Amino acid sequence: MTNLVILEYPDPRLRQTAEAVRVVDDAVRRFADDLLQTMYACKGVGLAATQVDVHKRILVVDVSEERNQPLLLINPEILSAEGLAPAEEGCLSVPGIYDKVKRAERIRVRALGRDGAAFELDADGLLAICIQHEMDHLDGKLFVDYLSELKRQLIRKRLQKERKQRSSVSETRATAPAL
Ligand code: NI
Repeated sequence: MTNLVILEYPDPRLRQTAEAVRVVDDAVRRFADDLLQTMYACKGVGLAATQVDVHKRILVVDVSEERNQPLLLINPEILSAEGLAPAEEGCLSVPGIYDKVKRAERIRVRALGRDGAAFELDADGLLAICIQHEMDHLDGKLFVDYLSELKRQLIRKRLQKERKQRSSVSETRATAPAL
């Protein structure tokens, strides 16, 4: 398995809309395993294919304490949503930034699993938040898009500064990415 490189805001590749998976084959399953491994390595609770520059509708989540309940959703669709509540969110593509976002509290989702068969899932709490957050990634949307433009500016500046500091200690990366 391979650890994949996670794109960071404001990388324009995070804005691409992912395409539906046509066939769930071994290549898709291998990629899903890499996505899961990368999520666990980064201590994330969810990761979408878009975040590793693969523009297919695939996401993984694991909101369990023990980190032993991986969930793979291929071509996920929200069938119904209820309630609306704010909760603090972060994102592996926006490292170190947390803010409140309003999401549906309960959702019913349909997706394809590892074997390519469709299943439905009722989610609430952190799982519901996480699935909605990851599904946004597949449409090129980030949680910072729900915040004010002023907040986004501050976040971009902070991340740019941190990347500059990182690249000054690494010779392999000459310049920080342009905003
Ligand atoms: Ni995210």
